[in-house]
Amino acid sequence: MSDVNTMRAISQDTLGGPEVLREVRRERPEPRPNEVLVRVRAAGVNPTDWKHRANGGFLGEPPFVLGWDVSGVVEAVGVGVAAFRPGDEVFGMLSYPFGHGSHAEYVTAPARTFTHKPAGIDHVQAGALPLVSLTAWQALVERAGLREGQRVLIHAAAGGVGHVAVQIAKARGAYVIGTASAGKHEFLRSLGADETVDYRDTDITEAVKDVDVVLDTIGGETSLRSLRVLRPGGIVVSILPVGSDAFFEEAERLGVRAVRMLVDADRADMREIAGLVESGRLRATVEKTFPLADAAQAHELGETGRTTGKLVLVVD
Ligand SMILES: NC(=O)c1ccc[n+]([C@@H]2O[C@H](COP(=O)([O-])OP(=O)(O)OC[C@H]3O[C@@H](n4cnc5c(N)ncnc54)[C@H](OP(=O)(O)O)[C@@H]3O)[C@@H](O)[C@H]2O)c1
Repeated sequence: MSDVNTMRAISQDTLGGPEVLREVRRERPEPRPNEVLVRVRAAGVNPTDWKHRANGGFLGEPPFVLGWDVSGVVEAVGVGVAAFRPGDEVFGMLSYPFGHGSHAEYVTAPARTFTHKPAGIDHVQAGALPLVSLTAWQALVERAGLREGQRVLIHAAAGGVGHVAVQIAKARGAYVIGTASAGKHEFLRSLGADETVDYRDTDITEAVKDVDVVLDTIGGETSLRSLRVLRPGGIVVSILPVGSDAFFEEAERLGVRAVRMLVDADRADMREIAGLVESGRLRATVEKTFPLADAAQAHELGETGRTTGKLVLVVD
């Protein structure tokens, strides 16, 4: 393979810690009909990346290239693609979970995966947004039907999903309560949160009540406790595996709703997200960027579970 037909990618041959990640050369993909080839400029790193790296998850046994977030430039288009031309700047989330592979110099995906990148943000911002924004949008708007004036509780509001969820909820006119350790409360207020709760020393079931919608980004006991802050008919949308039927049984007993969700690639939702960015109502906070070759360091930092906003890989 000559260099012009190959690309750099972050791959792994075994499951394990960040040290299993290594840079490899792979054949550069060609766009098939209805696909585009995107030269990746930036790609967010998400908890699903380190979970798959460690336990294979939906993907099973390696080798595989992780990464679902993409911001980049269209390099070539396949037969039938009318929406984009080479040179267009685009962003999107690869089909979750089986479309993975953005932690590389190039990626191909159906054209419908992508939306034009808003001109007002750079690739690092755009690469940070897709997976977390689609998750927050689909949880709050599609599953919960969040409306103006409703009260919403967002767990881990300073994290990747949480910090965009706060902004999306505010853009819908909701009253937003966010949980984080106290040192991050100023950050939550800067995003628009109306109330903040330090989850480390406060019992959420005593501090918060009459909530219409909870976005549960923690799972386990937090999912169960969240049911008790709802008003009748309220809803907890959990984005974590719930693990037992207790969550659903308890919801029924309390007269509230409990749902689980998995993020799904969707062009119409990406356009809503691009619209929020263009109108200045949604921005990613990026704690740190890493060159593609340092993906292992990004995983290591992310896995601490203490990061604020997003981590992003930058591809030169
Ligand atoms: N189902 C889906 O489709 C889907 C989609 C996206 C994400 N997820 C999952 O959702 C979870 C969150 O994702 P993320 O990207 O937001 O993660 P993240 O960015 O790694 O979250 C980090 C944040 O979590 C906060 N945190 C940790 N424990 C907390 C607790 N007990 N209460 C409140 N805040 C806490 C930390 O704040 P402090 O430092 O203040 O503790 C930190 O700011 C992950 O498990 C991810 O896999 C699922």
